Amino acid sequence: MPAELIDGAAIAREIRDEVARETAALVARGVRPGLAVILVGDDPASAVYVQSKGKACEEAGMHSVTIRLPASTTEPELLAHVDALNADPAIHGILVQMPLPKQIDPDVVIRRIRPDKDVDGFHPVNVGKVLIGDRDGFVPCTPAGVQELLLRSGVETKGAECVIVGRSNIVGKPMMALMVQSGRAANATVTVCHSATRDLAAHTARADILIVAAGRPRMITGAMVKPGATVIDVGINRVEDASTKSGYRLVGDVDFESARQVAARITPVPKGVGPMTIAMLLSNTLRAARQALAS
Ligand code: GUN
Repeated sequence: MPAELIDGAAIAREIRDEVARETAALVARGVRPGLAVILVGDDPASAVYVQSKGKACEEAGMHSVTIRLPASTTEPELLAHVDALNADPAIHGILVQMPLPKQIDPDVVIRRIRPDKDVDGFHPVNVGKVLIGDRDGFVPCTPAGVQELLLRSGVETKGAECVIVGRSNIVGKPMMALMVQSGRAANATVTVCHSATRDLAAHTARADILIVAAGRPRMITGAMVKPGATVIDVGINRVEDASTKSGYRLVGDVDFESARQVAARITPVPKGVGPMTIAMLLSNTLRAARQALAS
């Protein structure tokens, strides 16, 4: 029997509705959560993401600011914007869209954002908090979304073999930290695979939960999946497809058709992990506003 689909779009909708209700309650107490997004340059994919983040914020009843800067922006100019947002009491979350133009060092920018406004969870203070299991820290939106998908789909994680393919700072490493903690939707035995892993298939084939964030289209095939596994595909890759109007289509890092014959549950691409990212960004912004009110 083909795998059951984990409907990321529906779960993200559920979370966005919850965030909107809780935002309204916070507004009634005099605080409207505010998110500022900075986009430098005119990368079309980034422009689409930034626009969706702004719309999602407004839909949730939050205050939304989008700052669009030219590709020629210098690092000091960008840092001046970050400083202004750090000091602005109406802004609880700051996100600088990556990638940045080559004259700007992303690490310098990430370290300049106040950790209590770093709703991306990229600042070393938040990276450290996630690693030690301090719940005050902000978890990067994509791994937080994956964990929420597992939780809301009723996947048993305690004691499970969880194999993560990919070791990026944005997904693989924080995903590892989340799944190994002793809390809910976690408590797993975690293996992280990467480009130097010998015999990748030997690892993936014993995963009860397989999370793939490697950035390589369809690299995980059904033959590499354990029967009955839960497969979470974080990849979003454009591949050429002459049969579509645009000439391309989106595929994940998992070969969906073969993997779904073997797995018990699987996320599709699109409408799997993707929509969860914005939902978790809103959730982090709401918490940043609550924490600001309490401090
Ligand atoms: N570019 C692609 N994904 C992300 C993300 O999660 N946060 C930021 N800031 N930039 C991105």
